[in-house]
Amino acid sequence: MAISSTQTVLDYTKIPRHVAVIMDGNGRWAKKRFLPRVMGHKKGLDVLEDMCRVCAEAGVGYLTVFAFSTENWRRPADEVSFLMGLFLTALQKKVLQMHENGLRLKVIGDRSRFSEEIRQSIVRAEALTANNTGLTLTIAADYGGRWDILQAANALLQEGKTEISESDLAEKLMLSEAPEPDLFIRTGGETRISNFMLWQMAYAEFYFTDVLWPDFDADEMHRAFSSFAGRERRFGRTSEQLPQEQQRP
Ligand code: FPP
Repeated sequence: MAISSTQTVLDYTKIPRHVAVIMDGNGRWAKKRFLPRVMGHKKGLDVLEDMCRVCAEAGVGYLTVFAFSTENWRRPADEVSFLMGLFLTALQKKVLQMHENGLRLKVIGDRSRFSEEIRQSIVRAEALTANNTGLTLTIAADYGGRWDILQAANALLQEGKTEISESDLAEKLMLSEAPEPDLFIRTGGETRISNFMLWQMAYAEFYFTDVLWPDFDADEMHRAFSSFAGRERRFGRTSEQLPQEQQRP
């Protein structure tokens, strides 16, 4: 079970073990180039592949990306349909290269609204990569932080629990086997969490950049790592209580 940031002081290194990303700005990137919005998403998927490599090389263990929120169904039907197509491409084609690179792929979210083909492809992609020991890439699709907390609470009710602890609930969350995100990155200039991993972000370090996701590259990721390395993570303690090497440089 993952260790909770509110119950104990997390052990952490200067390289985040878990990076969570909201890949925002695809539409604006495309618009600036007089391209249809969906071309931004297509480029965004290529960037995601690159960032898996960058994170794996840096020693990050988990990369979790918000590909489709529970609210994204409100987008125009043709954009939703294109995103579903890209999701299939990731699950059926891109996963082969990921597997060769030793990545483990996971999908979190409510699968019930996806087509049967997507649902089956998720199961196959997860099974194919399940025993890999490299970076775990988790794609959050039809995911919402509130939905995740509710499904966990409902699972506990189903078990007949009448009183629950923090660790009971944490264990039922979709990504319970991963450490909590150390670093949360949002590209595209917005400074919102947008219902992403609400429970697990309790002590995440936030990094916001105006760079649009399709323009995000290795240098930008390293800029985020370097910002993270300069943070003082106190987990409720005072600065003076921290070991010297964890105090702000
Ligand atoms: C937000 O940008 C991005 C999304 C809602 C989709 C993210 C999807 C990808 C990066 C590619 C697909 C990845 C997988 C794994 C299928 P936006 O459209 O809100 O951009 P805007 O704010 O500029 O309009």
